[in-house]
Amino acid sequence: MDQAEGLRNIIKKSQVAAPAARVITVTSGKGGVGKSNTAINLAVQFKNRGKRVIIFDADFGLANIEVMFGAIPKHSLADLIYHGMDIKDVITWGPNGIGFISGGSGITGLTNLGKDHINFLIKNLSELDSIADVIIIDTGAGIAEAVITFLVASGEILLITTPEPTSLTDSYSLLKALKHHPSFRPDLTVVKVISNKVEDQEEGKQLYNKLNMVVQRYLKLPLEYLGCIPQDDTIVKAVMQQNPISISHPKALSTRAFEDIADTMMNIPHEERAVRRGMAGFFASIIASRKNA
Ligand SMILES: Nc1ncnc2c1ncn2[C@@H]1O[C@H](COP(=O)(O)OP(=O)(O)OP(=O)(O)O)[C@@H](O)[C@H]1O
Ligand SMILES: [Mg+2]
Repeated sequence: MDQAEGLRNIIKKSQVAAPAARVITVTSGKGGVGKSNTAINLAVQFKNRGKRVIIFDADFGLANIEVMFGAIPKHSLADLIYHGMDIKDVITWGPNGIGFISGGSGITGLTNLGKDHINFLIKNLSELDSIADVIIIDTGAGIAEAVITFLVASGEILLITTPEPTSLTDSYSLLKALKHHPSFRPDLTVVKVISNKVEDQEEGKQLYNKLNMVVQRYLKLPLEYLGCIPQDDTIVKAVMQQNPISISHPKALSTRAFEDIADTMMNIPHEERAVRRGMAGFFASIIASRKNA
């Protein structure tokens, strides 16, 4: 039995009756383009549409989500992995009943886990599939191996890009690194693009077209356009107030944009749903791809 098969068996055994949660990974090539803000606002929008939502902060640098959310977690995934804590005890419940898990140093240690730790982690993570319908993972920016392994494990990637020229080239570099990763499976992952900080809809679409043209020419990696979020000073204010704009300013232009994107995302095609692997499957692929690397 090879490693991947072993992991599949662990998942099968630990799986509860619940259907696998929808795992969405938010990423970008360049830093500071609006990933964390998008993750939080989409979480609010999914929650408003009746979904149970958990945000998973996998950015090992700055603790973005907790600052934007105004919710300070007491524990992280590291407490689960190394101190045997239950998954339910590492979830912090924030505004609107949105759950939040901090990856903490637990993320960086994933490569070196022994079999018992892996069993325990996967068993706990598969519980998340019965607690949440949607799990949004906020990653750090760029082509660091740690980020790419997360993307390779994702069924659904949201790539945030902005009109700054460096954002476009960094988005391309990220997609190139993803495409060429030995564990990447184009049949199991869809990449969806959001244009952020744009003047108007047209600029958003043009930005996507520009990226898509180069990507189709040189990488042949299918992309999908999800929509755009305007440059909006109210977002800056909301971030300062540690309250997501979707909650603090429900009528703001950018809140409307998050609503539109969430509506589009609610209509997920059947074939995309079919490849859903849930949170347990997600981490099993990360562990497998890191051991293979
Ligand atoms: N549409 C927008 N309009 C105006 N400002 C925005 C918009 N989106 C994000 N911002 C601003 O950009 C800043 C960075 O956003 P955010 O922290 O979400 O980016 P990030 O990609 O998660 O950054 P990092 O790479 O550091 O994790 C926010 O503090 C906010 O002030
Ligand atoms: Mg961030």
